Amino acid sequence: MGRYEQEFRRSLADPEGFWGGAAKAIDWYTEPSVVLDSSNPPFYRWFPDGTMNTCFNAVDRHVRDGRGSQAALVYDSPVTGTGRVYTYAELLAEVAGFAGVLRGLGVAAGDRVIIYMPMVPQAVVAMLACARLGAVHSVVFGGFAAHELAVRIDDAAPKVVVSASCGIEVSRVIEYKPMLDRAIEISEHKPEHCVILQRPQAAAAMVEGRDVDWESALAGAEPADCVPVAATDPLYILYTSGTTARPKGVVRDNGGHAVALRWSMENVYDTGPGEVFWAASDVGWVVGHSYIVYAPLLAGCTTVLYEGKPVGTPDAGAFWRVVAEHGVKALFTAPTAFRAIKKEDPGGEHARKHDLSGLRYLFLAGERLDPETYRWAGDLLGIPVIDHWWQTETGWPIVADPMGLEPMATKAGSPTVPVPGYDVRVLGPDGAEAGPGQTGEIVARLPLPPGCLPSLWRDDDRFVASYLSRHPGYYMTGDGGYRDDDGYLYVMGRIDDVINVAGHRLSTGEMEEVLASHPAVAECAVIGVRDELKGEVPRGFVVLKAGVTAAPEALSAELVQLIRDRIGAVASLRRVDVVTALPKTRSGKILRKTMRGIANGADEPVPSTIEDPATLDALRPILAAEG
Ligand code: COA
Ligand code: AMP
Repeated sequence: MGRYEQEFRRSLADPEGFWGGAAKAIDWYTEPSVVLDSSNPPFYRWFPDGTMNTCFNAVDRHVRDGRGSQAALVYDSPVTGTGRVYTYAELLAEVAGFAGVLRGLGVAAGDRVIIYMPMVPQAVVAMLACARLGAVHSVVFGGFAAHELAVRIDDAAPKVVVSASCGIEVSRVIEYKPMLDRAIEISEHKPEHCVILQRPQAAAAMVEGRDVDWESALAGAEPADCVPVAATDPLYILYTSGTTARPKGVVRDNGGHAVALRWSMENVYDTGPGEVFWAASDVGWVVGHSYIVYAPLLAGCTTVLYEGKPVGTPDAGAFWRVVAEHGVKALFTAPTAFRAIKKEDPGGEHARKHDLSGLRYLFLAGERLDPETYRWAGDLLGIPVIDHWWQTETGWPIVADPMGLEPMATKAGSPTVPVPGYDVRVLGPDGAEAGPGQTGEIVARLPLPPGCLPSLWRDDDRFVASYLSRHPGYYMTGDGGYRDDDGYLYVMGRIDDVINVAGHRLSTGEMEEVLASHPAVAECAVIGVRDELKGEVPRGFVVLKAGVTAAPEALSAELVQLIRDRIGAVASLRRVDVVTALPKTRSGKILRKTMRGIANGADEPVPSTIEDPATLDALRPILAAEG
């Protein structure tokens, strides 16, 4: 039996022994005497009587242990032409100082702080400063518009919001402050203060009494020390798209998260102290939380924070420059980034101009890795390309090729095998386990390993309803797929209304709600259709109310703009078709799956449940047209 098999079996047979052992890699104020509290299923708690501090483990302990002068964070920003390396000692000074700022503004353990920032080191500093105080951060992706920010402000009820004057999208300056002001205007909850980082590219107008300037506040702050928290206390809330318009506030605890992420760096990512890890994502997504910020720092690595794109900043060689310049050992990004590079530089000319000899691994996740991109990346780099599957809820890989534990034989199209701790099953429509090759819902048997969500923010009922009630005893991932004879998992896509656009998780249900709010719209449907670059993009279809006379083109443009204004440019909805009717079942359900199939080029039969086949016939040519 190989090492992977041994460890995997042990993790399921004796989770307490397994994770109790892994917990020794973390510094505790009070070592946990209980590893797993199973007394209240389906709610499980890891390390319930342990106390620790995540920031201490990510920063202070490395300084204490003699790594103070090692690079902790490399900021590389082609969009501003700047960069900076922070050693662990420097990062500690910044974080302790900013924790002092937050404390001065009244932030204490358990208080929420929303961070709405571009990819600047201050975003990482703010996250760690919250962790230091035991405050709960909620980072909101910069590509979300004011309304999305407002929804999160209302749900998290932050005492303070930390933001910046602007972000930079290639060469376009995106002003954040007007969006923040607007969000606070429309939210019911009003944060007491906003701390604003003024960037040279845009000056933010400050609201007297409420807004505080980052630099001047930091200059006068008294550094704050780490506050011990219970392992089960929340570290952060990260909102993610569900099937409805209301995003789900995924909660992460402190102790289980630190133990799991630390373990994953060694066993999945095979990257250790002093080595350089680069997750080319955004701190606004879970990949950024886990693998730009927490995991590499918990493991004493050097992490890269890259404010740029795979292409256009300035060209398709940007990733190779960063890898070579900073000595990156492991690169983690979404397949879309590689598709973008491949499109501009199919022959890989740029890669040849850089010394990539230090790069050992390419990890890809966030969306399905298509075999062509997999092969292209492997041929170009000549290193293992590791497709791995996970989600915001779990916070770290569910299925992966565990490079540090034991590299497995790879199969294109499969993210390989379940990671120790995850008892992954595929259930058929009747709830029974599907056999090899049979497609079904991918679930994980409870308890989930440490690091996974203990619940949704102040909404245990929704947590149970969304993930646990359909198959009691199992966590529903929302993805469908199958396992082969060797136990390799194949993830075929979401089985709900969630779509993946350039590795960004979005809800078509939410987009429908926005379109339906337009006074001219009687009903609508949004579906995800295949896209060569982004994997999937949304397309909208609307039926107008009787008597509406507006020109379809003008209305369509208005609706596209409405989505940009309400959700954000990141939604990437570029086309809304005005149609006379939507195909429905006799019970009135819109046949979205059939529409999606036709849009994706499948020869979809007319469903027997359809109310009026003519509606589908009329829609076919529109669906078949390029998105
Ligand atoms: N702040 C403000 N706006 C943002 C933003 C941010 N942080 N991120 C994206 N946007 C905007 C973009 O500027 C774009 O606006 P536009 O419609 O006005 O052009 C829109 O949102 C859509 O962005 P995106 O889907 O990223 O498309 P793109 O065409 O700008 O770039 C890629 C395409 C492939 C280069 C880009 O998606 C990418 O780098 N992907 C890598 C994958 C990744 O990082 N995934 C994260 C999860 S791991
Ligand atoms: P997010 O929560 O934003 O990380 O998105 C998680 C979703 O992205 C998953 O539920 C999957 O649908 C999809 N996903 C992530 N990684 C993969 C992968 N390696 N292969 C296929 N789909 C993936």
